[in-house]
Amino acid sequence: MIPKSFIQDLLNRLDIVDVIERYLPLKKAGANFVACCPFHNEKSPSFTVSQTKQFYHCFGCGAHGTAIGFVMEHTGMGFVEAVEDLAKSIGVSVPQEASNVPQHKVAPDLYDLMQSATRYYREQLKKTPRAIEYLKGRGLSGEVAARFGIGYAPDDWQNLKTAVPNYQDASLVETGLVIAGEEGKRYDRFRDRIMFPIVNVRGQVIGFGGRVLDKGEPKYLNSPETPLFEKGHELYGLYQAQKSIRAQQRVIVVEGYMDVVALAQHGVEYAVATLGTATTPFHVQKLLRLCDQVVFCFDGDKPGQKAAWRALENALPQLVDGKRIGFLFLPEEHDPDTYIREFGTEAFEHELENSLPLSGYLLRELTADVDLRTQEGRSALLKNAQPLLTAITAPTTALLLRKEVAALAGVTQAELEALYVIKPIAAPQRQAPQKAKRAAPSGLRILLRCLVMKPELARELPRDFHGEGNEGAAIAALVDWLNESADETSTAAMIQHFQGTLHGPVFANAQGEVIHWGEDFDILAEFTGIMRKIRRDAIETEMSMLQAKGLAMNELERVRHDELKEELKQLRAQVG
Ligand code: UTP
Ligand code: MN
Repeated sequence: MIPKSFIQDLLNRLDIVDVIERYLPLKKAGANFVACCPFHNEKSPSFTVSQTKQFYHCFGCGAHGTAIGFVMEHTGMGFVEAVEDLAKSIGVSVPQEASNVPQHKVAPDLYDLMQSATRYYREQLKKTPRAIEYLKGRGLSGEVAARFGIGYAPDDWQNLKTAVPNYQDASLVETGLVIAGEEGKRYDRFRDRIMFPIVNVRGQVIGFGGRVLDKGEPKYLNSPETPLFEKGHELYGLYQAQKSIRAQQRVIVVEGYMDVVALAQHGVEYAVATLGTATTPFHVQKLLRLCDQVVFCFDGDKPGQKAAWRALENALPQLVDGKRIGFLFLPEEHDPDTYIREFGTEAFEHELENSLPLSGYLLRELTADVDLRTQEGRSALLKNAQPLLTAITAPTTALLLRKEVAALAGVTQAELEALYVIKPIAAPQRQAPQKAKRAAPSGLRILLRCLVMKPELARELPRDFHGEGNEGAAIAALVDWLNESADETSTAAMIQHFQGTLHGPVFANAQGEVIHWGEDFDILAEFTGIMRKIRRDAIETEMSMLQAKGLAMNELERVRHDELKEELKQLRAQVG
């Protein structure tokens, strides 16, 4: 675990403008910096970076966050990775906090060992005609082999002896490159195999897949899970594909190493592979952060079909309205590698254009084995659809699929929702958002704006603060958080803390509203004024409730009423 205080400290030391400029050029505009938003397509810049407040906000697509958030969004790195990357960029190391989860310490030399092994395997490939012939036979050029760092592990028990300083070093076993057998005998995991390095988004080798050249079992041998390598989190080829994924706003997910490499050989550079595991929700989330369209293209055989369905199940909770997920089913005897080699790039990309949208695939499978002409069939459809439909949180997608399944089953959307015991999704009322914009901001809204400018003002609020709606709840959460930690705080630390929580979007909204406010804005005056108004409103509400009782007020209530009246009088006097 990374200590919270370190995150705060890191955000204080970084300058978000420097961080973002590593990835895209910013232009000064008034107090802020702007650029065309890297997270959606636009012609005029609505992506705004506040240097004083250390956050970014896009008025076009709502992207919002701190330097850490930016690196995560832009590169697809996870939180810990992004923190480590940023810490490294300013030359500090990330402290570790003890936690009850067993922690693997990642010694930097594990990465070095992987790097040495990669270099060694690549050199061996150059010296081994048999391995070169194998790759050539599969249609690979030297350039593509180099792009993926492909190598060869010779047919010996202790190849790596010549590649690393000390073959007996315990860390060599930790990398998974070497296996410790009985009586201290050690030997290489990978022997006589084509080696595919698995690279993380930072370009570090974290594992290998090794393929036999001829027939043999297992066909692929993979690195075990190590402190460097967590299979459900990594995607083969992502490092090499990143740039193309961004440019095309599309990624293809395939099953095999060779599929990724063969597609790249044919100019389809935006493909990645899961590593012998099912597609995880984490994978989907990572890819949807990078681009707008994910196409799963698995083998045409039975296991491929199964993998596609698993991918669908794991994608449902990650769906984002407006982003597309598709499924491309190849002819049974093909995988992407054989398909593109036989039919070429154009044919493959044509297939891609016609991939089956997730909703179509979902409905196709749900209705495949049920007879909708019978009541039993329609009932089975409703039952089978339940876990799938309830997993979707993207509102529009959920709404449309509920409507379709309901129609197929001959019930109304409301009946389906009642049956599943899920909250109804109502069609959005068209007028509502505009009205909300025109209405004068509520007291809570103004308070929220003050608090996002200067979060520590929340310490002035009562500890049991509560207010109405999302804004009230967000402020209450901020009060809680500040009272729990005595540390200094900042807008950036606050954004980071609430990122991904229920309150994140509420704060993001308010932060977007204040990003253009100048530093000379008299925030304290505004805050004092709004606190007074909020108190006054609360008093008036309580008093009118008491007054409604009229003569039925008891003695205590009468005293309370008079106290309130007095307080109100004083408050009114202060405003002058
Ligand atoms: P496939 O058996 O579909 O192989 O396994 P492939 O990618 O088409 O390989 P080629 O074309 O025969 O070389 C798909 C993926 O499943 C994992 C690997 O990640 C592989 O790329 N796998 C497969 C293993 O981990 N071990 C195996 O023994 C087989
Ligand atoms: Mn294959």
